[in-house]
Amino acid sequence: MFFSLRHLFALTAAVLGVFLWIFYFQDLPYRSAPKQPIAFSHRVHFERGIACIFCHADVAKSDYAGMPAVMKCMGCHRVVIPYYPQVQILHRYWSEQKPIPWVRVFWVPQYVHFPHQPHILAGIQCGTCHGDVGHEERVSEVVNFNMGTCITCHRNHGARTDCFQACHH
Ligand code: HEC
Ligand code: HEC
Ligand code: HEC
Ligand code: HEC
Repeated sequence: MFFSLRHLFALTAAVLGVFLWIFYFQDLPYRSAPKQPIAFSHRVHFERGIACIFCHADVAKSDYAGMPAVMKCMGCHRVVIPYYPQVQILHRYWSEQKPIPWVRVFWVPQYVHFPHQPHILAGIQCGTCHGDVGHEERVSEVVNFNMGTCITCHRNHGARTDCFQACHH
């Protein structure tokens, strides 16, 4: 018997490997929009007229925009589509009193100091840096911030570019 069970396993593994490889690379264009623990849609909430700052409440007063606490979601979803499967996942985090481990989309390296507050106070819209989030099903990294992104805009706005003190820790 030349074709043993072991050969069959090896063949199956090889075929599976090829498929996984294909899926991995086909998925590439979407990788900048990571899979989130709950399929939260900005579009759905934006179209209901909920303001960005209602959920990202610290954006105009601190460095970080901040993420809404589970309690804030529950304020609506105790009664709004409570049996929808994705909302059931939300209810589970609530009953276990666990924060939702949202996956970060935008980021700057740790040694860069990016404060939201001065940008919001200078009248720059969220969309200038984050894209049209209100129409997105999943937030994706439309801008990959590097020093060039920061400096170019600072020059255009006459904001300070002596970044050693202002922008680095
Ligand atoms: C101010 C009220 C409000 C808050 C706060 C709120 N939602 Fe919603 N959410 C809604 C409404 C309204 C809908 C649309 C319901 C419908 O389709 O009938 C919705 C829809 C959804 C859906 C289904 C979307 C889809 O694909 O159709 C999910 C999941 C969801 N919300 C999760 C969340 C999470 C997670 C939070 C907290 C980060 C949150 N919501 C905060 C009002 C709210
Ligand atoms: C109902 C609550 C809610 C509202 C309203 C809301 N967001 Fe969000 N936002 C979230 C949640 C939850 C996440 C984390 C999950 C995700 O990335 O989709 C998030 C993530 C984000 C991120 C990605 C953060 C990161 O990880 O880098 C950006 C940018 C953002 N929101 C901007 C906005 C803007 C701009 C608006 C208004 C158009 C808005 N949000 C309105 C709840 C909200
Ligand atoms: C000048 C560009 C710029 C503007 C304007 C801006 N952001 Fe951001 N945002 C960033 C950068 C850069 C990061 C990553 C920061 C980091 O890694 O610390 C970020 C991160 C975030 C995050 C995730 C982390 C956090 O801070 O909690 C959220 C949510 C967010 N922004 C929401 C908003 C909202 C809502 C607005 C408008 C009210 C807004 N941003 C306006 C550049 C901007
Ligand atoms: C879309 C334009 C734009 C982008 C992109 C941008 N900034 Fe700014 N930034 C501004 C403006 C405008 C101000 C406010 C200047 C003022 O109030 O005088 C500002 C202010 C600041 C301040 C406060 C400076 C001070 O006077 O204390 C820091 C720090 C800063 N930005 C860092 C960054 C970093 C880091 C990045 C890149 C991750 C970045 N900015 C990207 C436009 C931008």
